[in-house]
Amino acid sequence: MIREIIRMGHPTLRQLAKPYPEEKIGSEEFLELVEDMRDTLHASGGIGLAAPQIEVPYSLAVIEIINEESRYGDIPLAPFAVYINPTITTLNETSAGYWEGCLSIPNLMGYVERPQHIKVDFTDESSRPQSLEVDGFLATVFQHEFDHLLGKLFIDRVTDTKKLAFDAEYRDFHLEQI
Ligand code: NI
Repeated sequence: MIREIIRMGHPTLRQLAKPYPEEKIGSEEFLELVEDMRDTLHASGGIGLAAPQIEVPYSLAVIEIINEESRYGDIPLAPFAVYINPTITTLNETSAGYWEGCLSIPNLMGYVERPQHIKVDFTDESSRPQSLEVDGFLATVFQHEFDHLLGKLFIDRVTDTKKLAFDAEYRDFHLEQI
């Protein structure tokens, strides 16, 4: 079922998400939540969705990049996966900037610099602990999604507000400069 995505200004987006109860992983309620998040992500054309964005205040996010061409340009692919109670460790402080968008901030893009080499620890949908290293644009995607679980939005990380643009203006004036 496609759920409503709440937008900036809704207080749930600014709360620290609660740890997802590990004993609920695999339950009917869990499977329904994941299916709804997948449906909602697909319907919106996004590449990631955090549970708080559909007003579920738990630490869980899904990421899926299956189209090479998106508003983000040429980007690496990532099959659909669920990240439960994720934590991020920065492995290298060297950062890089990308233009980011967010389903909870429709039609706006912003340039954000983030560390580009991170380790992600999380529990997967089979209750297994997982750890993976992520580089480049994908590192930005993971940090953006998991920021939602901390009550943070990408605009909090925009350091130069001249690099905030609506979608159309982003395409017209900023896209070629990357
Ligand atoms: Ni977002």
